[in-house]
Amino acid sequence: MKKTNRLFTCKNKCKLFNSIVLAGFCLIFSVTIMAQPAKGGKKISSDLFGLFFEDINYSADGGLYAELVQNRSFEYNPTENREWNPFSYWEYIAPGFSYGRISVETSAPIHPNNPHYLVLDVEHVGKEVKFVGISGIGLKNSGFEGMVVKANDKYNFSMFVRQLSKEPISFNISLQTQKGKVLAESKISTSSNDWTKYTASLIPTQSNDTASLVILATTEGKFAIDVVSLFPEKTFKNRPNGMRADLAQMLADMKPGFIRFPGGCLVHGDGLGNMYRWENTIGPIEQRKEQRNIWGYHQTAGLGYFEYFQFCEDIGAKPLPVLPAAVSCQNSGGTWQIGGTGQKALPIDEMQDYIQEVLDLIEWANGPVTSTWGAKRAAAGHPVPFNLQYVGIGNEDKITPEFEERFTMVSKAVKEKHPEITIVGTAGPFHSGEDFDKGWKIANDLNIPVVDEHYYTDPKWFISNQHRYDSYKRNAGEVYLGEYASWGNKMRNAISEATYMTALERNGDVVRMASYAPLLAKKNFTQWKTDMIFFDNVTICPTPNYFVQKMFSANQGDYYFDKVVVKDEKDINLAASCVQDSKTGDIILKLVNYNETSKPMKVNLGRFIKIAVEGEQAVLAGSADAENTFANTKNIVPAISVVKISKSFDYSAPGMSLTVIRIKTKN
Ligand code: AHR
Repeated sequence: MKKTNRLFTCKNKCKLFNSIVLAGFCLIFSVTIMAQPAKGGKKISSDLFGLFFEDINYSADGGLYAELVQNRSFEYNPTENREWNPFSYWEYIAPGFSYGRISVETSAPIHPNNPHYLVLDVEHVGKEVKFVGISGIGLKNSGFEGMVVKANDKYNFSMFVRQLSKEPISFNISLQTQKGKVLAESKISTSSNDWTKYTASLIPTQSNDTASLVILATTEGKFAIDVVSLFPEKTFKNRPNGMRADLAQMLADMKPGFIRFPGGCLVHGDGLGNMYRWENTIGPIEQRKEQRNIWGYHQTAGLGYFEYFQFCEDIGAKPLPVLPAAVSCQNSGGTWQIGGTGQKALPIDEMQDYIQEVLDLIEWANGPVTSTWGAKRAAAGHPVPFNLQYVGIGNEDKITPEFEERFTMVSKAVKEKHPEITIVGTAGPFHSGEDFDKGWKIANDLNIPVVDEHYYTDPKWFISNQHRYDSYKRNAGEVYLGEYASWGNKMRNAISEATYMTALERNGDVVRMASYAPLLAKKNFTQWKTDMIFFDNVTICPTPNYFVQKMFSANQGDYYFDKVVVKDEKDINLAASCVQDSKTGDIILKLVNYNETSKPMKVNLGRFIKIAVEGEQAVLAGSADAENTFANTKNIVPAISVVKISKSFDYSAPGMSLTVIRIKTKN
């Protein structure tokens, strides 16, 4: 018995030992798979492809920012558009033979940052029996060319009201069609002579693409009203004060490595007073400082720094905020017409405060909740640090002595206080020239680790300059190609960019990041012709350029392998790259043909020990002039399939195409 027992025990111990060894082996084995790329690869940036977001082309207000009310805080003004005033996009209504008075006032606002509000004096609410409907005095807002509402979805209404007369004021809040049919309604009654936020839920019985919000005071009395807001409950990830879900999802689907925000020229602004100051864009929306958008409209700052950081976190992208280098845009006041002489610099005696503002951002993003700014982040609902790694200073500024002095001051202060932060410098608006050279020199003299280059040019330039970064010094600053695009949204443009992007991957040891620009553009409200995603209130029209960006950014790797694809090396219209993602072990091939006819390529995967027998393939192909339009948003979309893979295979790249093949490894 004893013997048996012993044997049994021994056997079991052995089994246990074996399984521990096996489990340990599996663990080591799987860790090895996850972390060990194939031999001979070159380490490249794992943050290579990301997004550039700027509030241009109504990208934020009226676009990604899901607020449905336009001019919610009565802050529109003629500096933004000569026709605008605090009452723009509002209509005074007096149904049922009612009458009253209305004025714009500023004497006791909700917050000094939000100075204008309306006062309505309801003198008489009509009681004529012949009137069908609700009588009263009020306001109507049709948003940004009509509000899109969906049947049975919930919409969150809010407004700030200060009751100015003794008795409470009753309100009827409704969503109505253009013909006045009520889709949803709710009632509110005031209860305070101080500014108070009142809320209601509206659930439309029918869907409508051009609805209006109607706020009607149904009792006599006087009141002040401000910050009237209506949000769909279904924003991206259901975030309050959130983003339009369908547009945000398009961006999330790209799996960007990072998001740069809030611009662009919006960052350094049209004159010093218009620079984007991050501190004005956090906290309760009624306390944020709204301002003129350099692109000729209005910024509510409702989509502010908190929302940008939150969105980055929600989609797993690193935040890349870009702050002004304490100088305004060189084109301020329209001086681009006379050579861009409009740059203004903050007075030196204001620089310490400005530098502190930059340092405060880092504390706000990364500091503990016990720090002054970390506490503000926590108060907004995010006690955990955002893990900010990059800070951009300056946006394609003209490199003047004033710029250099201020850039040096800011970057030195950040380096000294926060050596853990990677500073991104700036090298002018073109791919070469005086600002480019001076920007790079300053950055290298100051040991700035990453420098932002911008260029918009024709497709041929991208084809002819694929070797641009091959000769960049590997022991100086790395490149952030922060804004680039070929002039157009046809297939020839998208595929020229794809060609260039394979070269960015090949040079991913010196090109740290790259982002196409601009990102979003609202139909009929664009200030920049070539953009990545067009949209209106209902429809999203992705360009071929969007699919190219998505196919690269959703298929990034961190090791680059050369000589995997054999093609005609004399044909500069052919390009290819091969990367491996060490997290998944997947090998990713990108095969580009800028010719209009198909071309042969040969893929040799011999260096990868074990590869799956099948791969996922996406092919974006079309004629050079093909594009997507609002009438046919799906003219150009990638064709997805599963293909057989062997160690060596031939591929016929269709004319004007990008092919991405993703292959799992089993070693
Ligand atoms: O992307 C559009 C504009 O182009 C950006 O605002 C600016 O930085 C560049 O000139």
